[in-house]
Amino acid sequence: MPEFASNIFMKFQLLALPTVALAFTDYSDKCTSDVPCAAIESISAPDFPTKQDYVLYSTSQSGDRLNKVNKKMDTSSNGGWQEIRVDLDTKFQTILGFGGALTDSAAININKLTPDLQNQLIDSYYTEGGIEYTVGRVPIASCDFSTEVYSYVEVEEDLELDSFDISVDSSDTTGNKLGLIQRVLKATANPISLFASPWAPPAWMTQTNSTVGNPSLRDEPEIYESWSKYFTKFFEAYRAAGVEFWGVTVQNEPAGNTGAWQDLKMSPEEQRDFVKNYLGPELRAFNPELKIMMHDDQRVHLKEWTDTILGDPDAAQYVDGVGIHWYSEVEDYVAWATKPFDKMNDVTAKYPDQFILATEACNGFIPIIDQGPKLGDWNRGERYGYDILHDLNAHAVGWTDWNIALDLEGGPNWAKNVVDAPILIDAEAGDAYYRNPMFYYLGHFSKFIKPGSVRVGCSSTAPFTQSPMEAACFLTPADMVVVVVLNRDITGHKYNVQVKGSDNFVNVDVDKHSIQTIVFPKP
Ligand SMILES: *[C@@H]1O[C@H](CO)[C@@H](O)[C@H](O)[C@H]1NC(C)=O
Repeated sequence: MPEFASNIFMKFQLLALPTVALAFTDYSDKCTSDVPCAAIESISAPDFPTKQDYVLYSTSQSGDRLNKVNKKMDTSSNGGWQEIRVDLDTKFQTILGFGGALTDSAAININKLTPDLQNQLIDSYYTEGGIEYTVGRVPIASCDFSTEVYSYVEVEEDLELDSFDISVDSSDTTGNKLGLIQRVLKATANPISLFASPWAPPAWMTQTNSTVGNPSLRDEPEIYESWSKYFTKFFEAYRAAGVEFWGVTVQNEPAGNTGAWQDLKMSPEEQRDFVKNYLGPELRAFNPELKIMMHDDQRVHLKEWTDTILGDPDAAQYVDGVGIHWYSEVEDYVAWATKPFDKMNDVTAKYPDQFILATEACNGFIPIIDQGPKLGDWNRGERYGYDILHDLNAHAVGWTDWNIALDLEGGPNWAKNVVDAPILIDAEAGDAYYRNPMFYYLGHFSKFIKPGSVRVGCSSTAPFTQSPMEAACFLTPADMVVVVVLNRDITGHKYNVQVKGSDNFVNVDVDKHSIQTIVFPKP
């Protein structure tokens, strides 16, 4: 279906959704200096004195927020509504991790908080008392979540990039974004895989001398070379500031956006040729360890883009993975029709050496119908849980949220493209921030599925695709079994988990609209 037609179709689908504004409940947690949000308990060796011990974390609409309970397995099954079987001998992708984007807007908002609350917020995301993020995305220069459009080379026709300068990233313009990244790297309990993404080159490198309206690069070899060198300059400058990157995406949303904010539009053929002739050789020469991700765009385009770029061995040699976003067709509302996860499975089947990373997602991005934050919206958390779980079961190595923190209006965003975020900050008063349900749903994955974990076989008597309760299973590098179970149903259920070959059953009652993570040592 042409994208235009399919988008119209999806919008109609969306209008048919019940907009339940009747009795909206705010499920957010307010965190202040006087009443800090509770630290999230971690797991440690004493949790497992015997092989029958397991730990159960729950988040539920009825009140649990990553609550930890120590429990014992049984020798018989509860005959639950769903029987989850873990097969440790069936292994799939290795996990990179989970995280969010360190944008100008996030930094600007965090800086508005008192120093005490700034630390509390950073701890919430990155330390053992929090959800232990292990991935971070950094925009290369400005994006819509900036307060103005800027680049690192404002001198026109400076093809050699002599004027390249990242000092804006330490200035008030960006809320000292670089400083925030450095703080995160200092605070984090786990190593963080950072990846960088450009939204637009300096305006003078485009055909229209503009970063908005979906411009193209000037079709000149000198410009392609210069734009490639810009990446190297960026990594050099950040390295000098103590920030090392794991990866890079060639371009954020190269298929284009609404035109209202920065972008650099490329056809799949243009991205293929740019990677093959310019960016690939440049990055391999100066940053050979860096993982290069193509696409960084909607799943609806996956087939066309991967076939064009990965189908060309000269281009594919420079590509390590494929970045995906969740927006274009409101794919998760209508996944039964658009089958976004099948699109990912197809890519893995065809290009098994390529990893898939979810590089951006947020709620509240649909103009007029559903734009901006909704403080404490439970459904938005559940959508995160649904998308993360199904992305993982469709071979994604991780999941990257958009802005780690926004203000209560969902900004700042110079193009007024406001959205929601797991943490919202009262930027005016500076004395509180709020954890949305999305924060906890993300935490059920990020805190437990450590980098290097392997997804393992996970089956159920009720097919995941047809049931409101879904699961994904992992084995961590420390040989812990991790099972994440999502119940989107309007009622609670009994279920049980058993590792194939083990005599023990994890018998659990799950609440309506909830998510659970079960952890125990490999039997
Ligand atoms: C490009 O745009 C800038 C800012 O609007 C302007 O100052 C400059 O003269 C333009 N350059 C060209 C070549 O038109």
